[in-house]
Amino acid sequence: MSFSKHHRLPILFLLLSAFLVTNTSAQTRTEYLLEKNWKFSKGNHPESTKENFNDSSWETVTVPHDWAIKGPFDGANDSQEVAIVQNGEKQASKKTGRTGGLPFIGKAWYRNTFTAPTFKKGKKAVVLIDGAMSYPVVYLNGEEVGRWAYGYNSFSIDVTAKMKEGKNVLSIGLENLPEASRWYPGAGLYRNVHVIITEDVSIPVWGTYITTPVINKDFAKVKINTKVTAANGKYDGLSLKTTIKNAKGETVATATKTLNDTDLQEFEQDLIVRNPALWSPETPNLYHAETKLYAGKTLKDEYSTTFGIRTIKFEAQKGFSLNGVYRKFKGVCNHHDLGPLGAAINVAALRRQLTLLQDMGCDAIRTSHNMPAPELVKLCDEMGFMMMVESFDEWKEPKVKNGYSHLFDEWAEKDVVNMIHANRNSPCVVMWSIGNEVPDQGTKNGGKILKFLQDICHREDPTRPVTVGMDRIQNALDNNFASVLDVPGFNYKPMLYENAYNRLPQGFILGTETASTVSSRGVYKFPVEFFKMKMYDDNQSSSYDFEYCNWSQIPDDEFVKQDDLKFVIGEFVWTGFDYLGEPTPYDEKWPSHSSYFGIIDLAGIPKDRFYLYRSRWNTEKPTLHIVPHWTFPGREGQVTPVFAYTNYPSAELFINGKSQGKQTKNNSSNTNRYRLMWKDVKYQPGTIKVVAYDASGKAVAEEVVKTAGKPHHILLETDRKALTADGKDLAYVTASIVDVNGNLCPDADNSLSFDVKGAGQFKVVANGDATSLEPFHLPKMKAFKGKLVVTIQSSEQAGKINLQVLSKGLKAGNLTVATRK
Ligand code: GAL
Repeated sequence: MSFSKHHRLPILFLLLSAFLVTNTSAQTRTEYLLEKNWKFSKGNHPESTKENFNDSSWETVTVPHDWAIKGPFDGANDSQEVAIVQNGEKQASKKTGRTGGLPFIGKAWYRNTFTAPTFKKGKKAVVLIDGAMSYPVVYLNGEEVGRWAYGYNSFSIDVTAKMKEGKNVLSIGLENLPEASRWYPGAGLYRNVHVIITEDVSIPVWGTYITTPVINKDFAKVKINTKVTAANGKYDGLSLKTTIKNAKGETVATATKTLNDTDLQEFEQDLIVRNPALWSPETPNLYHAETKLYAGKTLKDEYSTTFGIRTIKFEAQKGFSLNGVYRKFKGVCNHHDLGPLGAAINVAALRRQLTLLQDMGCDAIRTSHNMPAPELVKLCDEMGFMMMVESFDEWKEPKVKNGYSHLFDEWAEKDVVNMIHANRNSPCVVMWSIGNEVPDQGTKNGGKILKFLQDICHREDPTRPVTVGMDRIQNALDNNFASVLDVPGFNYKPMLYENAYNRLPQGFILGTETASTVSSRGVYKFPVEFFKMKMYDDNQSSSYDFEYCNWSQIPDDEFVKQDDLKFVIGEFVWTGFDYLGEPTPYDEKWPSHSSYFGIIDLAGIPKDRFYLYRSRWNTEKPTLHIVPHWTFPGREGQVTPVFAYTNYPSAELFINGKSQGKQTKNNSSNTNRYRLMWKDVKYQPGTIKVVAYDASGKAVAEEVVKTAGKPHHILLETDRKALTADGKDLAYVTASIVDVNGNLCPDADNSLSFDVKGAGQFKVVANGDATSLEPFHLPKMKAFKGKLVVTIQSSEQAGKINLQVLSKGLKAGNLTVATRK
């Protein structure tokens, strides 16, 4: 889809019209993004589907919209009496924050009154919804035009028959069932809604499929299949002109083809691109195929498809290669929520997540356990992340009472087809996942279902392999479930890799889900020991990264297998970011509304673990990070271990200038191999310094942490200095409470308030504390371990946004961000 022309409509249409995102010169195709002036009401309002329904008392909202994220949090919201079988539980017990403790259960309705000025009788109109949570039923001008069930999928509806010139009313009813999820799913029209107007003859949604069957240094063969639909059923004389342009906009190939009777309403074109610029995470080179459809000499449709040229191979013994270079996935699993924004999609929020992950050296994302927003896939194409795009957390055997198992028979094929059609032109997508830990692994029919879904993937996209994240490895090996898969994906089973490799035919194994180490940013517990499912009174976990779950591991245990076994092709760590819901190990202990698994917390602040992964994955930049902070009043004289996460082989620790000895990474234990640890040092306030040495013994870097004094002022740091004045762009400002010398006060929990003036507004705030019940949307919150993150949003007027952060007894923080058109 080309987003070439962005402009406002004449003032006359402003109130009713949607935002026009594409408008080609010949007016063959226009796309309207329905973002503003939606009317919204919770509860069941079937009467609101009537065209003349008076919705003036309803709330006015902007879509994408998550109607439940404002809370309030309550452990009774969707509390579930269950035994979580995957976690090894045998007896049901009450789970409080499993789905985030947010009030997302129930029905809700949306209405949007819009005009699509380019629509005239004889043209075609389609509504494309990128995801609606959940069970969307769609009405146009009083009549049902279509429905979907799964809240995570994109779907389109041909609404030509009901569409009017002038005013149209779109109504969408949604319903979230209780006990339908294992995490916070979000609520409402949380992704974009598009209205696409085309001529009577046009290319349908996802009608272009681009593959690159031959790639070598000199040329790439680009095969483009393009579907066409004609309202009158006449396909004679249609022709398609395709122009491939490189990133600079230069034409690199063209082809024209006329449709024949035997073509079954689908054009097939083969083009050659000389000296192709290959796509990879390190070189995310993209091409654009510009398509023009003609009936005789009349231009009927025109649009652009982004694609890339790259080879992927999964080979026995050798593993995975991209463009002929063998590599292991340095991946993370992420849920779809954006912390304090809930499920409502926002490009700036996604870009910030990817920017942080890229700095860690991460090169791959698994969209656990459902289809991604198109904006995420586009960013992964552009920024350079490989993607495992996943469809389901359940097949026919349930994990939750009202989950996907009820939908499987009717919807599974349709859901997989849409997932593939929506994403198959993106070079970033390197494999499909058809399931996560589906209990069907252990059933008689599991293998058949696997084959059914995998075959659909192969039919719709023969160019990418298929995986499943398996947890019941013994079952899956014994009944051959695992051997049918293109890519055997293992969740938390590094200890079984060797044995399974010998039994499996594929010759390689992927760690589809790894680690699940738990930690709370800035929290350190003593004594520092390995603990499984350890619970503390404050509902936090320790950031020494020694705590994990019954089924999971610390990062180092996975690293050993990744490094020692050539046939293991990488890992997807659970998870990149903390997410709403699944507050293991505190599933039964309210308050706790979000996960502890994240390498980065719910506010988007890296935990210590970030630097452990960075020291291994980011091969471009050095890492030297000290764990813990050094402000422990009352611990004087007590053992307080110090760890360094670094890519250097050795380092020396000094406490108040006195050497505590040199540590060198070694193979005596899994943790000694990846961390430098001074386990017996005693706390005394002052300064700790770690000096890192390279392999030749030369001191090459140092890092210092000082004991903080009293909280004195608020330090503000923004991730962006300039925003786009589009009413959507976001700056994430980290507020730290520091002493007079600028040292972080690591236990400060002062309440901060936020005042935003000028060309923007306060959007949300988060502090990464899973136990906090303060809402994200109010301009005040307590700092957690000295920090929180305020999100400010640009308005549509260019100018300056001023943020002031205030707290009683502290010198305020001030920051200005510019916004530009
Ligand atoms: C896995 C599951 C994930 C998440 C994770 C927590 O078993 O696939 O969705 O629940 O455990 O460790």
